[in-house]
Amino acid sequence: MNQQSIIEQTVAHVKLTLSDAEGGHDWWHIHRVWKTAQHIATAEHADELVVALGALLHDIADSKFHNGDETVGPRKAREWLVSLGVDEPVILHVENIITHISFKGGNHQQAFKSKELDIVQDADRLDAIGAIGIARAFNYGGFKNRPLHDPGIQPNMNMSKEEYKSNKAPTINHFYEKLLLLKDRMNTETGRRLAMQRHVFMENYLKQFYGEWDAEF
Ligand code: ADP
Ligand code: NI
Repeated sequence: MNQQSIIEQTVAHVKLTLSDAEGGHDWWHIHRVWKTAQHIATAEHADELVVALGALLHDIADSKFHNGDETVGPRKAREWLVSLGVDEPVILHVENIITHISFKGGNHQQAFKSKELDIVQDADRLDAIGAIGIARAFNYGGFKNRPLHDPGIQPNMNMSKEEYKSNKAPTINHFYEKLLLLKDRMNTETGRRLAMQRHVFMENYLKQFYGEWDAEF
């Protein structure tokens, strides 16, 4: 099977699999990550088939819905790619991308590294910032019934995770805890440049938000 039809069939498969996924991880998230990853891959001279398949299959099974089992995604991706007769080195690489994409950093040594993983991870992180990132954050906050903002609950207050959650941490706090940190976690030059634009947009958004919140005219 040629690359074009491998990708087309995978698109159809992912659309079907995610047909009732929640808003933050639906087909359109995959579509944006795929297109962004493709754009970065061209600039960074990466293996385009691996990047496309990694992006398309990266959220095929969310561990949150499988009792935290993080092996389901890579396994489902492998089964799918085997059924298409994709070459083993490509399958293994895609599997590794899916296993390692949500690596949180910290003290452990990351076990797998590749340019293609760097690219798909950058594309996934880019979808968490900028205009789309803002929309996804408030969508998530709405789903959890959280307040937009509460000037009495500052980000990173000395509370336990449980306390913080039960206090209904405002969605605005998520900007300081995660979204504004992502620009410094990009792997590729192209990703960093795109992240910088989206970062500036979020900073301007926050300025406007607080101005309206305090009814400053
Ligand atoms: P990933 O896309 O890496 O699986 P998550 O499942 O953690 O990330 O988040 C999906 C989306 O929901 C992202 O856009 C993220 O910013 C947003 N999100 C996650 N946690 C929160 C939170 N506590 N408040 C607001 N938005 C959140
Ligand atoms: Ni994702």
